[in-house]
Amino acid sequence: MALVSKVVILVALLHVTLGFPILMRRAEEGRRWIYLPFYSQAEDEKMIFNKILRLNRESPQKLSEGDIALRSIRSAWNCPTGNCFWPKSSDGTVHVPYTFSLVYSVDDRARITAAMQEFTTMTCIRFIPRTAETNFLQLTSSPRSGCWSYIGKIGGGQALNLEQQGCLEKGIIEHELSHALGFIHENNRSDRDAYVKIQWQYVSESDHYNLNRQTDSNNLGLPYDYNSVMHMGRYSYTNTAGMATIVPIPDPNISIGQRYGLSNLDIAKINKLYNCNLCRTLLSEPTGRFSFNLSPSRWTRGSCLWLIRIPSEQGSSKHPQVVLKFNTFYIQPSPSCFSNYITVYDGDSRTSPVLLARACAVRQALAIVASSYHMLLEFFSDGRNASNYFSASYNSVNCGGTLTSTKGVVTSPNFPSEYPPSLDCIWTIIAPLGNKIYLRMNSFELEDSDDCTYDYLTISDSDGFLGKYCGYYGMLPMLFSGNSLILTFHTDEFLEFQGFNATYIFQS
Ligand SMILES: *[C@@H]1O[C@H](CO)[C@@H](O)[C@H](O)[C@H]1NC(C)=O
Ligand SMILES: *[C@@H]1O[C@H](CO)[C@@H](O)[C@H](O)[C@H]1NC(C)=O
Ligand SMILES: *[C@@H]1O[C@H](CO)[C@@H](O)[C@H](O)[C@H]1NC(C)=O
Ligand SMILES: *[C@@H]1O[C@H](CO)[C@@H](O)[C@H](O)[C@H]1NC(C)=O
Ligand SMILES: [Zn+2]
Repeated sequence: MALVSKVVILVALLHVTLGFPILMRRAEEGRRWIYLPFYSQAEDEKMIFNKILRLNRESPQKLSEGDIALRSIRSAWNCPTGNCFWPKSSDGTVHVPYTFSLVYSVDDRARITAAMQEFTTMTCIRFIPRTAETNFLQLTSSPRSGCWSYIGKIGGGQALNLEQQGCLEKGIIEHELSHALGFIHENNRSDRDAYVKIQWQYVSESDHYNLNRQTDSNNLGLPYDYNSVMHMGRYSYTNTAGMATIVPIPDPNISIGQRYGLSNLDIAKINKLYNCNLCRTLLSEPTGRFSFNLSPSRWTRGSCLWLIRIPSEQGSSKHPQVVLKFNTFYIQPSPSCFSNYITVYDGDSRTSPVLLARACAVRQALAIVASSYHMLLEFFSDGRNASNYFSASYNSVNCGGTLTSTKGVVTSPNFPSEYPPSLDCIWTIIAPLGNKIYLRMNSFELEDSDDCTYDYLTISDSDGFLGKYCGYYGMLPMLFSGNSLILTFHTDEFLEFQGFNATYIFQS
């Protein structure tokens, strides 16, 4: 107790000394939280869809719309017999067996199964390695043949080509797999003329069929989706550099042709076509907020999942990490959180590493940092009468992480060398309920400024904001009464220093 109050006084003192500006040294020109820059949609479209088209131009296979193998004249979306879709198994999932080309490396296979994971998490589709099934996808890798698929199940072993050079990107793989599930291009829908204008003047006669509308598509009663992974890009089949062939109406600036992954409506369409009733939400903007409020008695046993997937270019040196902050959190307590709980995973699968394990009860100021661009939140309830709610927001940082082991070290990037400029990091330390966190700053050297506006470290615990620090310190011990701690580290574009090194340990 004595130690607690001593440290609280020490922290309070630092707060008074450093927390309040005495004099502004430089004018602040609207510096705010910095979000990572993302690729512009135009760059993205040029890069991705045109990559499919470019590859496919050389393909000997007869392809419609660039990447659809023609077998017979039929619309898979409007399949009267239902025989063009994959059958549902007794457990409610839809098994789509596949085989890999022997040419694929271990890494190629990992990329393909990673893309399949999003279907597993968000839909009832399960791509499974083929054992003896009659109908299956043959994932082939014919070079110079492009990325293409048949639409729907055609019977027997059906080829789906993913060339190693250029097709093994998540959004492209998901696009071709969606064709095999029965989906046409979004911009081929019967109602597309109300949403996009085709600029035929920039499409060569021989390419016209690729941009024709399918008059009898089954649109599943779901809205047109500019954000679909099945939508073609703005410049598809253009014969005039820089001139768009597909232009959204009335706002031409709406983004189309994304290949980051399935959209919310792509997910909804798959689940509707295959008649699967799942509680799934995708959050795919760079930042956002969401909430959940389950009224007692309106629940049956089961899970809801929220997948946060911020835009991130595969292979890019930019490495965004998702940060989730709970603004309110109440999950009705039960022994070991058995009946109702929230679990947060570091990735897009319930088999990904766990960041927050089976949490319930009231949690305050809880933040969680993923190691990359996606994070999965699961709410589970056993269906008994209980009240559960939360509200949360998310964004991203360039560095940081979630620390849940009983002791550890947090250092600024590159420590003891100089930290990089223009950085935003968040570390969150989460101890079990009832624990305290003891943090010792072993060394601390940041650019100094009167109100710590340039480079700074802030510390807040679950009871609130504690302080903003910059400049130089010797060793600084602090004990926090709350069971979670958030450290944010910001650096501006000038003057880098050694940074900080802190160790922490939980105390029960
Ligand atoms: C798109 O619609 C046109 C016109 O009906 C049709 O020829 C083409 O096959 C359709 N594409 C697909 C993938 O169904
Ligand atoms: C589209 O974007 C351009 C460039 O940013 C802008 O000048 C134009 O007003 C925008 N059009 C609409 C309809 O928002
Ligand atoms: C369900 O719980 C609420 C409050 O948690 C309570 O008011 C209500 O009576 C309960 N209903 C049943 C059927 O147990
Ligand atoms: C941080 O400080 C601790 C304790 O002095 C030390 O053991 C550790 O090696 C340091 N970490 C780095 C990266 O310098
Ligand atoms: Zn396609």
